[in-house]
Amino acid sequence: STVFGADVKSTNIKFHEGLPREEKWKSNGHMGITLWMTGLSGSGKSTISVALERALVEMQPKSYFVYRLDGDNLRFGLNRDLGFSPSDRKENVRRVSEVSRLFAEAGAIVIAGLISPYAADREYAREVHKNASLPFMEVFVDAPLAAVESRDPKGLYKKAREGKIKGFTGIDAPYEKPVNAEVHVRTDQLTVVQCVNVILKKLDEFGIHL
Ligand code: PPS
Repeated sequence: STVFGADVKSTNIKFHEGLPREEKWKSNGHMGITLWMTGLSGSGKSTISVALERALVEMQPKSYFVYRLDGDNLRFGLNRDLGFSPSDRKENVRRVSEVSRLFAEAGAIVIAGLISPYAADREYAREVHKNASLPFMEVFVDAPLAAVESRDPKGLYKKAREGKIKGFTGIDAPYEKPVNAEVHVRTDQLTVVQCVNVILKKLDEFGIHL
């Protein structure tokens, strides 16, 4: 598989198992999981992710261990060598999938927000977690193009329409809508709080408490 093994460049390497997860996660009181937030630029991925992060951290009687990974932010560091070509986006998603897996293994509720426009790349993220026996939840942060374009918080749609940005998702680059997402929130119809509550309910259904 391309997820684990076949395309590994190194030879003579061996995988070492550590403590069982249940032991590592005991102090947390919950298991690690990745919430993969996908959607158009301006759909609300970051807003909902931050609100969700806050809700989980401030949960009573006990806080959750949360770690948020933001596509935009990671492009300043880990992914600084990547642009927006299909292959760079694929590599972006691959790296964030692996980092998400590592944090989920460490017991975090990972909230990864990336446009991740290609279904195959998102499927890869899902596979990475499945192979590691870690729960994974795809969240479709959905608002129609007309809605995100009228919001245009960073003025990027305007620039894309003017041809000043090439290969902009939704304008002249594709966004393949999820068909098997565990959660689908319409951010043009629900408030941020309502979206967060839908996700929290799903998280509860997953049964993440030890
Ligand atoms: S991807 O497709 O998953 O690799 O994208 P991601 O890492 O989430 O980065 C998306 C943010 O980059 C800005 N930006 C662009 N987005 C889409 N297409 C093009 N060409 C582009 N150029 C810059 C934009 O601010 C995205 O931010 P969000 O938070 O999604 O609005």
